[in-house]
Amino acid sequence: MNKTDRASPPTARPRASKLQTRTSTGSPPDAEIASRLDEQLGALATLETRLAAIVASIHGRIAFSSSLGLEDQAMLHGIAASGAAIDVFTLDTGRHFPETLETLEASEHRYGVKVRVVFPDAGDVEALVARDGIMGFRQSVEARKACCEVRKVRPLNRALSGAAGWLTGMRREQSQERSAVPFAEWDAAHGLVKINPIADWTLADLEGYIARHDIPVNPLHAKGFPSIGCQPCTRAVRPGEDIRAGRWWWENLDGKECGLHNRPKAKVSA
Ligand code: ADX
Ligand code: SF4
Repeated sequence: MNKTDRASPPTARPRASKLQTRTSTGSPPDAEIASRLDEQLGALATLETRLAAIVASIHGRIAFSSSLGLEDQAMLHGIAASGAAIDVFTLDTGRHFPETLETLEASEHRYGVKVRVVFPDAGDVEALVARDGIMGFRQSVEARKACCEVRKVRPLNRALSGAAGWLTGMRREQSQERSAVPFAEWDAAHGLVKINPIADWTLADLEGYIARHDIPVNPLHAKGFPSIGCQPCTRAVRPGEDIRAGRWWWENLDGKECGLHNRPKAKVSA
C-alpha cells in the first residue's frame, strides 16, 4: 500500500481549552464506532486521512500516548500536519534515557506543540522503592510488573480518564504478540475506543515516512535501539534480533509487556 502523505507543513495542536468534552455514553454505540473504524481505516492510504476519519468518528477527547519512539514520532508528525485536535501526552516514568527527554524537547520545538507530561504519583513511587529498592524491578517478573504498574499503568489510567478515544503507535510487525493488533477496538477496561492508526505499517513504511519528513527521532535508534523504554530495562539489539528483544531481555518472550496494553495483574501495595 502506498503510504505517501500530505506535504503540508505541520501546525500546532490546539490547546487543551479547544478540546471537546466527551459526550459519548460508553455503551454499545461506542463499540459500533470502534468496529466501523476498524473496517474503515485499512482502506485509507495515508496517516493524515486516517486521522481525519478518526476525528470525525469519535465524539469527545481523543488522547495520543507517545513513548517518543519511532512510531510515535511519525504519529506526532501526522497529528501536527493534519491539525487534528488531539491531546498528546507522554508518561515520564522517571527512568527514561536522557536522549528520550531530548527528543521530547526537540519535538515540541519542531512542531510548536506542548506535550502533556504525565508523572507517576510520588507517594506510590516512594512506597514501591521503600519496599523493593531503587532497582527492585530486577528481582522478579512480579517486582518488574509492580514497577511498571506504578510508573506507567496508573499514570496512563489517569491520563486517559474521561477520554473517548486513545491513539497509540503500535504496529503488527513489532512482535508476535502484536501480530493481530486491530486498527480500532472497544477498550472496555478504559471505556473508550482504542485506535492504532499505523497498525499495518511495515518498518520500511515507517522509516520512509520519517525520512521524507525529516522527523526528529531519538538518537539511540541509530545506536541499535529499535524499541526504547526505560533505561534500566532497555538494551541495544544484535543484528537479526527481534525489534523488541532489547526490552526486559531477561524475561520470557510471553511476559514482555508492561501492562499498558494487556493489563496483567501486578501485585503492588504502594
Ligand atoms: S511498551 O508497552 O512495551 O512500552 P512500546 O514502547 O512498544 O510499548 O509502545 C507502544 C505504545 O505504547 C506506544 O505507541 C505508546 O502509545 C504507548 N507507550 C509506551 N510507552 C509510553 C510512554 N512512556 N508514554 C506514553 N505512551 C507510551
Ligand atoms: Fe520500572 Fe523498568 Fe517498567 Fe520502567 S520499564 S516502569 S523501570 S520496570
